Amino acid sequence: MTAKMATKPGRETIPVQIGLEGADRKRLAELLSQALANTYVLYAKIQGVHWNVSGPNFFGIHKMTQEQYEDLALSIDELAERIRAIGFLAPTRLQTFLELSQIEEAGRDTKPQDMLEMLAKDHQAVAKSLRAAVSEADEVDDVFTADMLTARIGSHEKFAWMLRASAAT
Ligand SMILES: [Fe+2]
Repeated sequence: MTAKMATKPGRETIPVQIGLEGADRKRLAELLSQALANTYVLYAKIQGVHWNVSGPNFFGIHKMTQEQYEDLALSIDELAERIRAIGFLAPTRLQTFLELSQIEEAGRDTKPQDMLEMLAKDHQAVAKSLRAAVSEADEVDDVFTADMLTARIGSHEKFAWMLRASAAT
């Protein structure tokens, strides 16, 4: 018989004592979970464009979106593992990601070409949300989380620029 997966946060066997207060770690876990959810939903949207885009700019957009979703995939893992390192369970359910995400899923009938502008806006919205999270992490001296999220802002802003430039006529 296989062991059931834990569904509720269990007590850590070794207490997390990294110089951050419990309440602060909880708030940081919430911020990281939101960043994780945003990244997960955006990852799926970007991959949708990678697969379904067509037209004269196919190859460039196909390659560009691959670079972006690969970057986001690495980030998904780093964000989730940071949540674990500060003592909480990382969310794993797709439904939870959709509930926590600040960006919407693409509509069923959205044309891949029309999604370039949408993705640029999404990246910008995620960058903006991350900037607020960095301020909160800084306030409680979680320099590692602040640093990690600051690096993510740079990626999202760069990807937004590339999408804006690709969508420009
Ligand atoms: Fe691919």
